[in-house]
Amino acid sequence: MSARGLFITMEGGEGVGKSTNLDFLERLFKDNGVEIVTTREPGGTRLGEDIRELLLRVRDEPVHAVTELLLLFAARAQHIAELIEPALADGKWVLSDRFTDATYAYQCGGRGVDRAVVEQLENLVQGTLRPDYTLLLDAPVDVGMTRARNRGELDRIEQETMAFFERVRQGYLQQTQTQGDRYRIIDAGQPLVDVQKGLTAFGNEVLARWTQSRAEL
Ligand code: TMP
Repeated sequence: MSARGLFITMEGGEGVGKSTNLDFLERLFKDNGVEIVTTREPGGTRLGEDIRELLLRVRDEPVHAVTELLLLFAARAQHIAELIEPALADGKWVLSDRFTDATYAYQCGGRGVDRAVVEQLENLVQGTLRPDYTLLLDAPVDVGMTRARNRGELDRIEQETMAFFERVRQGYLQQTQTQGDRYRIIDAGQPLVDVQKGLTAFGNEVLARWTQSRAEL
């Protein structure tokens, strides 16, 4: 039986360069012989991608914070059951563009949802599943929002205020205080080559720890 794979997540506010950096990290792991599944939240399954579309489409009615929260966890439950758990059990690594840290940052930090409510849903939906490592790409809100705006039309969440995204950023930074040792923070405001130096160091650290833990078995 193969050892359980690693679950790695990438987080950050809008326009911090998650897609480019996720591709870079995926390549680094693949080049080192890791079988890796790359996915995203909300999404990752057909049902999850439908829920993503519902969540991000601009609407002419307000979306209640609890409605948004439950949709996110509904997509997450499907994602875990259909994709994440089977891949990890099969010894594959899973690299996800966002996971529950985003809920603490956006729904708790941004929308003001009580953390205890999210903790309950996290335990219900995830059981003991938590990421092994989380990379937080952190950049000043104006830097990220300028990039997001240059990408084209803004979705429902991207249309939030700068104050909302400032709370999201603080929410992420606060998250790194909760389960400190799984987080690595990279300054995403620096030039891409420096961000990617940080990613390489992170990837190599994860690979070295993995090799060491295999040797100890
Ligand atoms: P993105 O992954 O393309 O950046 O878009 C996903 C959007 O959904 C982004 O604005 C963050 C938001 N989101 C939440 O508000 N809560 C969550 O738990 C997740 C996973 C995403």
